Amino acid sequence: MARKLLLTHIDVPGINTFEVYRQKGGYAAVEKVIKTMSPEDVVEEVKKSGLRGRGGAGFPTGMKWSFLAKPEGVPRYLVCNADESEPGTFKDRYLMTYIPHALIEGMIVASFALGAHTSYIYVRGEMMPQIRILERAIAEAKEKGFLGKNILGSGYDLEIYVQPGGGAYICGEETALLESLEGKRGNPRIKPPFPAIAGLYNCPTVVNNVESIAATVPIINLGGEEYAKIGVERSTGTKLISASGNIVKPGVYEIELGLPVEEFIYSDEYCGGIANGKRMKAVVAGGSSVPILPANLILKTAAGNSRLMTYESLSDGGFQTGTMLGSGGFIVFDEDQCVVRNTWNFARFYHHESCGQCSPCREGTGWMEKVLHKIESGHGSMSDIDLLWDVQRKIEGNTICPLGDAAAWPVAAAIRHFRDEFEWHILHPEESQTRNYGLAHY
Ligand code: NAI
Ligand code: SF4
Repeated sequence: MARKLLLTHIDVPGINTFEVYRQKGGYAAVEKVIKTMSPEDVVEEVKKSGLRGRGGAGFPTGMKWSFLAKPEGVPRYLVCNADESEPGTFKDRYLMTYIPHALIEGMIVASFALGAHTSYIYVRGEMMPQIRILERAIAEAKEKGFLGKNILGSGYDLEIYVQPGGGAYICGEETALLESLEGKRGNPRIKPPFPAIAGLYNCPTVVNNVESIAATVPIINLGGEEYAKIGVERSTGTKLISASGNIVKPGVYEIELGLPVEEFIYSDEYCGGIANGKRMKAVVAGGSSVPILPANLILKTAAGNSRLMTYESLSDGGFQTGTMLGSGGFIVFDEDQCVVRNTWNFARFYHHESCGQCSPCREGTGWMEKVLHKIESGHGSMSDIDLLWDVQRKIEGNTICPLGDAAAWPVAAAIRHFRDEFEWHILHPEESQTRNYGLAHY
């Protein structure tokens, strides 16, 4: 059995309550940091752990914390990004639902390290049950003296507030989230300045994903060096993976980074193989924003090595032959699925969610949606494939926030790896919506 750090006690009845969570060793990390460590010590442990942002970007958490500006007399904020909206990603919701104190404990540890006295959890607006669960967990922790004034008699004060999200995917982009938290429309800001310098109310702010914040608890309990021994290369620790699609056992799994992709898909401990005895056609490994890979490339790198569940191995070969770990939204497609239809579906989503500030994203996502629909519905021509390629190229790298890139990459990867499937739709208009291309290109 693989080692678990976040979901160790997930099956214990009542683990969502303070009492049971505490019986299982919960809040020991808070006691340790508050009674025995300085804020700088905590930042140092997180740096040593090698923890990388679990929301999708994989930016080193300790480094982000050390970038936080500390001007005299100016408040600093910690904001937890719980606006989980990436298609195929549902691990933060799982953690908040079943073991909410893991997040609250991590919020206290991280807030202490950053010198924040007011922290926010910005939760996707649709997740009302999770908002209630977190509010209850905060009230319990406060009643037991782990939150509020003079925590555990240390003189350190902290309040945590839960804010329901604005109801748009773009509100999960960190600067749009801060705008929304300030009560404005969730439009991304131009970076720099990064939130670490000018974030919430123009004050220094760290925005971290739910899982990143929860991971600080085992880091403090084990020590950063011990945590860094788990995993491989620059991918240390464990990672929650949301597994969905045509697999036998969809769900949320905690893996040790470095697990071979093949083992993750086919072993009974995780996905349990492809459902209904079908063959695997493709995988989107890190949420809808990352490039789709055909079955042969997801299992092996271009050099023929086993591909691993790590930031490095999944991206090996760049976008020609690799993808990204992203948010860990692992979607498996079997031989019956249509890549063109799926790409159109993703494109429709990004067009709908574009905030409209930049022309390449606002116009380009609309063009991609229309051209993909044209091809998928049997009305496309060969020049449409080149048009699609051209449009996605013009979006990538030319927008304020990563939503533009996220819309472009899946289209580019689908054309790169499944061009024959696009051509088949164009050459067989009468069958385009009634039959799938299957695995014919293998
Ligand atoms: P990013 O790479 O722009 O930034 C990563 C983090 O590092 C940010 O917090 C940024 O402020 C910080 N940072 C980078 N350079 C810095 C510097 N020089 N000084 C101070 N701070 C610095 O990526 P971003 O926008 O945070 O995330 C994009 C990713 O989010 C995508 O790759 C996608 O996979 C993922 N995503 C996840 C979703 C989910 O539901 N979990 C939803 C949508 C996207
Ligand atoms: Fe808005 Fe798209 Fe520009 Fe991001 S890239 S700021 S979502 S228009």
